Amino acid sequence: MSERPLSHDMVIRSLAMRHWNETVDDARAVDALEQGKVLFLPSLAFPLSTEELTLLTPDLVDPKRKNISFNAQNGKLNGVAQAEKKAQVQALLQRHHDYACQLVSSLLPEYKSALHSPVNSLRLHPITVWRDATSWRKDDTRLHVDAFPSRPNHGERILRIFTNINPHGESRCWRVGEPFPVLAKRFIPRLKRFSPFSSWLQNRLGITKSYRSHYDHLMLQLHDTMKGDENYQQQGPQVTLELPAGSSWICFADQTPHAAMSGQFMLEQTFLLPVAAMKNPDNAPLKILQKLTQRTLI
Ligand SMILES: [Fe+2]
Repeated sequence: MSERPLSHDMVIRSLAMRHWNETVDDARAVDALEQGKVLFLPSLAFPLSTEELTLLTPDLVDPKRKNISFNAQNGKLNGVAQAEKKAQVQALLQRHHDYACQLVSSLLPEYKSALHSPVNSLRLHPITVWRDATSWRKDDTRLHVDAFPSRPNHGERILRIFTNINPHGESRCWRVGEPFPVLAKRFIPRLKRFSPFSSWLQNRLGITKSYRSHYDHLMLQLHDTMKGDENYQQQGPQVTLELPAGSSWICFADQTPHAAMSGQFMLEQTFLLPVAAMKNPDNAPLKILQKLTQRTLI
């Protein structure tokens, strides 16, 4: 491919925050995030007590699930294999959620009242082990943008906050890819056509939790087509990021091509954000795809 190579500065913006509730006066942080950059917080750690450190073992995860997850809105905890540990895990994930909300208030205050559907996760498996057990479509060591097969989000943004809590000082390694407009332009000609009937049927049969819109179809197709393209995985524009233990990072995972290559033990918080709540909605994948296809997609 004869493209301009990506540089580190094109995909990442670093901020020197040390506390989750630290006041930050950096209006450009939200601009960088909406342009698809990773906001990197190298000194923002999530402290664990001595008792909580004993929870950092893959045995704690239900073998049928990838991660332990928690919905702070309804208090639902999923994926804990050991019943006697549930209360401790829930307290940890509730505190993590509270910290994530503080971070949004201090760093991204314009999103505060619009973010919804919070789910956070405790990820205890080494990335390499999980990868070996799944199909290429679920293999997150391949560059991809996030799209949920059974939960269409009709254009809403997927904001994710990650923290490496590895107790042995092991970094998490990511690859990050090209800007979304370039990515979309590259892959749109190869995406399968949308079938409203098939979307209707999948919704009717309960395969999807709501109707999969044209937008959701294109995002899923983009996710699959990127992951399935061996040449793009190897040769496509990309930068490797080392994300040390004790650091955090934030991105719009539906926009920023990413691949998790190695590491173990992470906390992650997901929120959804309506496009209208963005500072510059034209950066949303929905708006970019609509512009490129010249169609209304939701
Ligand atoms: Fe992902």
